[in-house]
Amino acid sequence: MRNLDQHTITQEVIARLADTPDPRLKEVFGSLVRHLHDFAREVSLTEDEWAKGIAFLTATGQKCDDKRQEFILLSDVLGLSMLTVAMNNAKPPQCTEATVFGPFFVDDAPHYDNGADVANGAAGEPCEVSGAVLDPAGRPIAGAKIDVWQADAQGLYDVQRDELDAAQGRGVLHADSEGRYHFHSVLAEAYPIPTDGPVGEFLAATARHPWRPAHLHFRIEATGYETLVTHVFREDDQWLDSDAVFGVRHSLIAPWVRRDDGSYSLHYDFVLNPATASKSAPKTSSETAPETTLRH
Ligand code: BEZ
Ligand code: FE
Repeated sequence: MRNLDQHTITQEVIARLADTPDPRLKEVFGSLVRHLHDFAREVSLTEDEWAKGIAFLTATGQKCDDKRQEFILLSDVLGLSMLTVAMNNAKPPQCTEATVFGPFFVDDAPHYDNGADVANGAAGEPCEVSGAVLDPAGRPIAGAKIDVWQADAQGLYDVQRDELDAAQGRGVLHADSEGRYHFHSVLAEAYPIPTDGPVGEFLAATARHPWRPAHLHFRIEATGYETLVTHVFREDDQWLDSDAVFGVRHSLIAPWVRRDDGSYSLHYDFVLNPATASKSAPKTSSETAPETTLRH
């Protein structure tokens, strides 16, 4: 077809996808083309603006390496990560809600016994965390695998510190026979997401702040249950209503109790959703982790 114009080109591009063997790929690309073209028409996108858009996406890719995933950050600040989490994690109300994975998970974190100190030297106020992993009827899920990771007092994850050669503020534990877990670490503090790249420029240009409310990350896996990727947020945090990545759920906010000796404690129970027939196999690490999992 020739002489395509701004009104006819969209259908022609979609028609060229007709022979895509994978029907899902065909559906996704067709919709993507339709929405991209509609977007360009809606804002009357100029050539100069699209050149700037391409430069921005190029810089986003160039900022990525084995320790930095700027595209995940971009997806997070655009709300696309949380949108996909919300769409794909509907569950009964008694189950713990999911939230964003974030870019700071490590697939091979050190294993600890219950009661251990996962801070491993990370700076911060001492904090003891405990709770249980339960099914929707309140029965313990013995042996559930619990990944926990958090930022230190300066708001940095261990993978953001080049000087470290050991994990800090992260680890893998297993719930005991009564579903209980327990570890020591440091107090979670609010922190800004990285702003020294294109995502930081986007936040500045749109007059947005980069802060995330204080939180602990958890990923909990157990045979016969959907894998849960979530956070627990500190209830007194000033950024709860404007999280830079839109991840806060009311049910995930909890009190950290300050004890007489100045240390803190958090008690939080997780309720896993039984896997349905269509989701029967628990997700493996590589299915739940971003493709470019960050490592030391
Ligand atoms: C995090 O909580 O680790 C995180 C999530 C999204 C973007 C940046 C950091
Ligand atoms: Fe985080």
